[in-house]
Amino acid sequence: MLWLALLTLLLALSAWSEPLDGRTLYRENCERCHGMSGAGDGPDGKNLIPPPRDFGQAFKYGDTQTAIVKTITNGIPRTGMAAYGKVLEEAEIKALASHVRVLRKQEKN
Ligand code: HEC
Repeated sequence: MLWLALLTLLLALSAWSEPLDGRTLYRENCERCHGMSGAGDGPDGKNLIPPPRDFGQAFKYGDTQTAIVKTITNGIPRTGMAAYGKVLEEAEIKALASHVRVLRKQEKN
């Protein structure tokens, strides 16, 4: 019966860890505007004014983890940037903010 307990544990762990994967969440929610690498070149961002942020450029609302969590949670009024606090869990937004910071570092190089 041990194998069954282990299998259940494994399944539970994989189901639990998936939504906290910032990269996957980014692909599902952000890539269409901000682009795969975060250069702001996603297909749905092309006609937006202002355009989606290129994560390699200066951030208007701060680029610390806390500031980015706030931006994602509250959105940016009168722009395409929606408030994700209504649709995502706090832990998911934190994972997304971390991923934005990873992309930001890569884009800056
Ligand atoms: C419909 C298009 C769209 C989607 C989808 C979108 N964004 Fe944005 N985002 C924008 C636009 C447009 C801006 C720029 C607003 C501005 O210039 O004031 C922006 C700005 C931002 C900023 C602001 C950086 C700064 O200047 O302070 C961050 C961070 C950000 N987005 C992260 C995300 C994340 C993470 C997701 C996915 C959960 C996401 N965005 C989804 C359009 C989008």
